[in-house]
Amino acid sequence: MPDAIVLANPGGRIVLATRLAEDLFGYRRNELNGRLVEELMPARFRTSHLGLRSGYAAQPRKRAMGAGIELFGLRKDGSEFPVEISLSPFRSGQGSLVLTAIRDVTLRKQTEQALQKLSDENAILLQEMQHRIANSLQVIASILSLKSGAAQSEETRASLRDAHQRVLAVAAVQKHLLKAGGGDVIPVAPYMTELCANLASSMIGDKRPLTLSVRANGNETGSKHAVSLGLIVTELVINAVKYAFPAQDRGGHIVVSYEATGADWKLEVTDDGVGYARHAPAPRPGGGLGTNLVKALAQQLGAQVTVTSSPVGTCVSIAPKSALSPPEFSPQRPIEAGFPSAARPDSSSPPTLYRQ
Ligand SMILES: Nc1ncnc2c1ncn2[C@@H]1O[C@H](COP(=O)(O)OP(=O)(O)O)[C@@H](O)[C@H]1O
Ligand SMILES: [Mg+2]
Repeated sequence: MPDAIVLANPGGRIVLATRLAEDLFGYRRNELNGRLVEELMPARFRTSHLGLRSGYAAQPRKRAMGAGIELFGLRKDGSEFPVEISLSPFRSGQGSLVLTAIRDVTLRKQTEQALQKLSDENAILLQEMQHRIANSLQVIASILSLKSGAAQSEETRASLRDAHQRVLAVAAVQKHLLKAGGGDVIPVAPYMTELCANLASSMIGDKRPLTLSVRANGNETGSKHAVSLGLIVTELVINAVKYAFPAQDRGGHIVVSYEATGADWKLEVTDDGVGYARHAPAPRPGGGLGTNLVKALAQQLGAQVTVTSSPVGTCVSIAPKSALSPPEFSPQRPIEAGFPSAARPDSSSPPTLYRQ
């Protein structure tokens, strides 16, 4: 629809209004002529408009009116409607005039409001769904925990406890998503810290002299990436607690570290335990569920898993394939990431590399 046009003289009197302008404001033919332009706007705008009008007369140029504020037109019957107005100077036989182009934006505003309402409703729905998912995951975790407590065999108990930890890793992401209030952003450091606190309290408890620490830089990541990282950390920490320290009274350290710069990242879980080879029974060929889960999750992330293990500990490193140096390994390299050297038992055996 074309704009309605009103021409006014420097005194603000209308000298010409198009048919469209008359219809828009509910006036009869020629009824607008001689009226003040302020009659076409709600009373609350009039006083300030008088000042603005003389300002425009002093410096006339083409521009929008009332930039940044919502403008309204006033119909003859007293009803209001939202408008967009642009002003331009107009030279005529009657001297300099101001040409005002008025656009009725009722439909656009209604559409904008409807879209905003829809988007607000969607945000509420999403928040509600996230609440439900978080609650459901907590319920599942509790059931697994109860079942694990009631299990007769140690093997079943351990499987249920591991499953409980996996669900908790996903539940923690959901909790952080809720906190983020709509955006898909998980702060890595708080997430890893919470995850490892859960793992430590359930897997280590206060009977074993093991420490589990987290080093993570403050990057944020998406929930999909966070779920994969969380599940990988869960598997690796469970493994370290289960296998790296067979003597229950032996002290040890497990360190989870996550570093990210730009799109590059590296996750490492390191322990100063007995290493793969020393563990009895010997690791199954092809690895157990944990190994395969970690491999699959890393693949989803486009990352590669590198296991370095020796009798002084194990380090599992996961990083995007492109970020890794060539797949060579120096057997001389001692495994020490994350540990003070005093905490490492002496050993002369070289570490073994498992590329998974
Ligand atoms: N941190 C570790 N220290 C020593 N041995 C480990 C460690 N992590 C894994 N292992 C060995 O690797 C094997 C495979 O682990 P995994 O694939 O998680 O299967 P599962 O935990 O079901 O045995 C374990 O049984 C264990 O022998
Ligand atoms: Mg395992």
